[in-house]
Amino acid sequence: MPVVPEVHPAVRRRHSPMVFEPGAMISDAELDTLLDAARLAPSAGNSQPWAFIAGRRGDAVHARIVRHLAGSSARWAPDASVIVVNLARVSLEDSDDVYSDFAHYDLGQAVATMTLQALSIGFDAHQFRAFDREAVEAEFDVPRDWEITTMTAFGIAAHAPGEVVGVSRERRDRDDVTWARVRVDERG
Ligand SMILES: Cc1cc2nc3c(=O)[nH]c(=O)nc-3n(C[C@H](O)[C@H](O)[C@H](O)COP(=O)(O)O)c2cc1C
Repeated sequence: MPVVPEVHPAVRRRHSPMVFEPGAMISDAELDTLLDAARLAPSAGNSQPWAFIAGRRGDAVHARIVRHLAGSSARWAPDASVIVVNLARVSLEDSDDVYSDFAHYDLGQAVATMTLQALSIGFDAHQFRAFDREAVEAEFDVPRDWEITTMTAFGIAAHAPGEVVGVSRERRDRDDVTWARVRVDERG
């Protein structure tokens, strides 16, 4: 089932590149816009259970991130312009009580918002989980009420969607994901 043409071009164009242009840089101002877009995402009770660690290719933070990538992501992520580590606040300080039932949901929205902001200023994004979570948490002294959930590599894709074989990019049909709906033209 094809995607209707009204879907926003940034949403249609978005894909997770397996190769990034190794010379592409991101400026401080561009990185600021990504972080600000994430900050503007909605969250349960405005709890904002997110935090980020950003390492630009060539800087000290980047070096501390890339040493903990898994073999699979180490093949492509270091060439991206910046790697952003995505953290969720999972519990209250010094307690095992859950901070917010929606912490991961909210972090996901912030990362999605950041991803679309990146596309709107010409950067592609690949979110991933292939890294040693405990090692990165130790590297940055992440407090125990926070959890590193994913990372996002932002840069300029060196290939078009589908050009490099990775996981299948097939999507489930619209009907398969829409469990109940009445179309206007079906109403009696
Ligand atoms: C939570 C999450 C974890 C992911 N982990 C990885 C990963 O470890 N390695 C990888 O190459 N891609 C990873 N991806 C990217 C997905 O494989 C990709 O989004 C999916 O196959 C759809 O392809 P597309 O983004 O190009 O449309 C991850 C994506 C998400 C949202």
